[in-house]
Amino acid sequence: MTSAPDPTLRSALLDWYDANARALPWRTSPADRAAGARPDPYRVWLSEIMLQQTTVPHATPYFLDFTRRWPTVIDLAAAQDAQVMAAWAGLGYYARARNLLACARAVASQYGGVFPDTEAGLLALPGVGAYTAAAVAAIAFGRPANVVDGNVERVMARLHAVQPPLPAAKPALKTLAGVLVTADRPGDWAQALMDLGATICRPKAPLCERCPIACACAGRIGGEPETFPRRAMKAERPHRRGAAFLALRDGQVGLVRRPPRGLLGGMLALPTSAWERQVPTLEPPFAADWRPSGEVEHVFTHFSLSLTVLKAEAPAGDHGLIWTRLDEAVDGLPSVFLKALRMGLSRLL
Ligand code: ADE
Repeated sequence: MTSAPDPTLRSALLDWYDANARALPWRTSPADRAAGARPDPYRVWLSEIMLQQTTVPHATPYFLDFTRRWPTVIDLAAAQDAQVMAAWAGLGYYARARNLLACARAVASQYGGVFPDTEAGLLALPGVGAYTAAAVAAIAFGRPANVVDGNVERVMARLHAVQPPLPAAKPALKTLAGVLVTADRPGDWAQALMDLGATICRPKAPLCERCPIACACAGRIGGEPETFPRRAMKAERPHRRGAAFLALRDGQVGLVRRPPRGLLGGMLALPTSAWERQVPTLEPPFAADWRPSGEVEHVFTHFSLSLTVLKAEAPAGDHGLIWTRLDEAVDGLPSVFLKALRMGLSRLL
């Protein structure tokens, strides 16, 4: 295994980044950084939390919306929980939105709104794990941290033709990435690897002919770079079934707030049955003429779900539901319930 950073490989990738860095709203371009500009740690932190669960194109509108509504970490810390949860709807992993708020509040109250500037200091914040601490330390504060996400793992697995499969190979891939980190431009280095992984060393169809480090790549030389990283066979995702109840009245829909802990915790939702392997017993939120109005599919991390949508016109009374105008509900519902709402509304009663 290599034990010193290869200066040729480093400069080839950094030169490529200087010419090809993606313009992203949280990013300070390599030219601006060379001229002395520094990124805003709040924006770097926020982008990294959002990008842990989704792609740059999906996260970008959320990032722009959050930074417009809450331009600083102090503003975010002062926001209401329900507003932040609603703004997060569609990004998934809702525990992360709660941690995001907890972190903003810790930075505001314990650090006067100034993010700690070391990996260890960042790691002590709520919801900041090893990846985020390394990314923010490198990108926002120029610390020589080893920033390893899925993109970087893929680049390392190909560069060194690493044979052991993921996830067992993770520590080895992290070590290989760490060998290339130096105190020279650590933030640009981390982002150069991310951009290479996202645009050239792509999961399915790598564009090796455009890769600045192709001549050093063992995966490429072996002729099958796309077969790295190797993967252990995955257990199949279990399947569950359930029902969602679409209660309508006067342009409003009856919603519930889910319990704070657990899947979609704290989010607004349609009332549902339990989600189980067999079709569960249906317990509608109130007695009415519930009619089947289609079926939607949704894939969560740990299971896939077939959800039957049942629709009814609600009789008088609030029935313990949060009655919300349809246009407002569309803004704050997690994707699975948006799908169910749209399916139900597209059908005649
Ligand atoms: N993916 C995760 N973090 C990123 C960043 N800072 N730039 C581009 N892609 C990313």
